[in-house]
Amino acid sequence: MYKVVPDKYREATNEELAQFIVEAKSRLGERLTLLAHHYQRLEVAQMSDFVGDSYELSKTASQRKQSEYIVFCGVHFMAESADILSTDEQKVYLPNPLAGCPMADMAAIEDVTAAWQMLEEIGIAGKTIPLSYMNSAAELKAFCGQREGLICTSSNAAAAYKYVYERAEKLFFFPDENLGYNTGRNMGLTDEEMFTWDFRTGEENIDVDRLRRAKLILWRGHCHVHTNFKPFHVEQVREKFPGVKVVVHPECTWDVVEKADAVGSTKFIVNYIDKQPPGAIIAIGTEINLINRMAHRHPDKKIFELSGQTCPVCANMYRTTLADLAFTVENLETRDRIEVDEAIKTDARIALNRMLMVH
Ligand code: 13P
Ligand code: SF4
Repeated sequence: MYKVVPDKYREATNEELAQFIVEAKSRLGERLTLLAHHYQRLEVAQMSDFVGDSYELSKTASQRKQSEYIVFCGVHFMAESADILSTDEQKVYLPNPLAGCPMADMAAIEDVTAAWQMLEEIGIAGKTIPLSYMNSAAELKAFCGQREGLICTSSNAAAAYKYVYERAEKLFFFPDENLGYNTGRNMGLTDEEMFTWDFRTGEENIDVDRLRRAKLILWRGHCHVHTNFKPFHVEQVREKFPGVKVVVHPECTWDVVEKADAVGSTKFIVNYIDKQPPGAIIAIGTEINLINRMAHRHPDKKIFELSGQTCPVCANMYRTTLADLAFTVENLETRDRIEVDEAIKTDARIALNRMLMVH
């Protein structure tokens, strides 16, 4: 049951909350690690020990053996992955347990299992390796681990594809059809070789012939924050700001990605902005809190959100407040933890460890 944040924290100012967090950090020292994804609010990111993309943060979680408590300011699948990769003695927390990822929810394990069964029935499962994006539930990660498969993030998707194609004829990718398609295109796969399968439309609509021919089967799923960017947004900024650099996340659709100057994970985007010279004009196609933090960090560059229209906020990332964080770090012994079931953990860890290996 999600505990409501007590008045002590709800009524405190940001300065007071920051003070609670600083005190807890100095009391616990290395026993506590605070991780924050790049999409966290500025004030939450500022309190964290590490700010990163989902790959870096999962790697950091797996390396912070000295920390008894890992507090992950992000969304549910990220904290789950930290729990899977950490030791049994370490405790993992998601300061706002309601922070999920709607895209991860688009690949329910029951549907994936039924789809795989269909591949078995038509005789292609044996030639296929499943690969799941990090944005997925622990059960789906375990499913991949059990079938020679692995996990990737947007920063190592190409390496993960290579890993699969060295071992199998076909790759089944979940749950982001856009990252999946973009990675396939960049590796030279044609539309004929890729097939987006909407399993939920019902068995009668399943195109068995397409499934048999596809080298890459993409599960139908998307991120509503990134699919709001459209190709005309890129055209508009190019017209209005000659010389503008456009950098986007690979969860955007291909028609946006192909018009951009650069595409990559949140870490890639941050590095790309850091490297631009003073005076550079940069339009960014990703979540607004990352963009605002970058604008704050580089007052000498003109940094803005690509669409000028949709305000690409990830409501789930935004759920974590400074009050949630202060409440968590001051009550580590009583706050709910993120605990993945042991049986699922074992197979999910196999898939995640393969991910850490192929980067
Ligand atoms: P990164 O792996 O690039 O941090 O992206 C995670 C994510 O959820 C993007 O929407
Ligand atoms: Fe999920 Fe999209 Fe939010 Fe990333 S930005 S956590 S993919 S909903």
